[in-house]
Amino acid sequence: MSKTTFSLHSPLDMHIHFREGAMLRRVAPLSAETFSGGVIMPNLVPPVDNQDRLDRYEREIREVVERHAFEPYMTLFLRPYTESELASMKDRIIGVKLYPEGVTTHSEEGVGELRDVEDTLALMQDLDIRLMVHGETTDFVMDRERAFLPVYEDLATRFPRLHIVMEHITTREAAALLDRHENLSATVTLQHLLITLDDVAGGLLNPHLFCKPIAKRPEDREALLALALEAHPGLVFGSDSAPHPVDKKESAGCAAGVFTAPIALQMLVGLFEEHGALDRLQAFVSDNAKRIYGVEPPAKTVVFEKTGAVIPERYGDVIPMYPGRELDWKVAEVR
Ligand code: NCD
Ligand code: ZN
Repeated sequence: MSKTTFSLHSPLDMHIHFREGAMLRRVAPLSAETFSGGVIMPNLVPPVDNQDRLDRYEREIREVVERHAFEPYMTLFLRPYTESELASMKDRIIGVKLYPEGVTTHSEEGVGELRDVEDTLALMQDLDIRLMVHGETTDFVMDRERAFLPVYEDLATRFPRLHIVMEHITTREAAALLDRHENLSATVTLQHLLITLDDVAGGLLNPHLFCKPIAKRPEDREALLALALEAHPGLVFGSDSAPHPVDKKESAGCAAGVFTAPIALQMLVGLFEEHGALDRLQAFVSDNAKRIYGVEPPAKTVVFEKTGAVIPERYGDVIPMYPGRELDWKVAEVR
């Protein structure tokens, strides 16, 4: 009997947390195996916010993923930068990430007042450096992204030549913003296409689905899924895969972050197939990103086969989304 297969070319993960040291060595190869490249988030402790830190972090990543055709697209943590700092690091990064102070994991050094970084944003616009944003305020948790949307509109209007990426959008209002400003694009995660707050906290609390921004309402998920399935030209896949050791997840004071890197592509193939949209997946996981960010990742073909597979319970001390769940598709070959 012939096997059903499906192929993706040079898939990209435009928002990923690799961490450092032992965690990096555990998780980065899992992404590098199937993805051709990824946007590496800078929220380390201390953050990646100077040339030396950037050099060392990039070198550490390249050593770990050496065996694979994988391009790490590096980012800097936004603080007030001088023109010479930005000019010297510009060619080494894909963007600078704005974390409002205290809104998520390791954002203590984030931006308190936007006016503190206005000059830097103007420099970034002049130097053609992209701004990536964790778009949440410190309002009531379900309203944090919606409350941030006027900031996106304000920045997009006042800095019309600055490319602004709304990271990990979770609401239908954020989805709608994409069509209102030419200089806005967005990433969306796997979990926000699949789950709502009900899956996190509607029954027994599921710490492995807890992340920032928190999953929202069914109508939000539907709006995001519709955009992904049509491969909206302003939307790209960014897993926001964010590993934490099991003792930090299954504990009082659970850390925010869902670990999806090794299963994201297989699950996306299943999801797009279920909705009759497999012909759009290439654009959503690669072509849109290549166009929007102007990158040319290493050539890689990932062949998926429709055959039963099971999500591992653990990757070392990290528990993935949906441990033990059966999948319809598995990665059969990478070439
Ligand atoms: C991320 C992390 O753990 O670094 N956590 C998360 O819930 N998404 C940080 C982030 O992207 O907000
Ligand atoms: Zn993230």
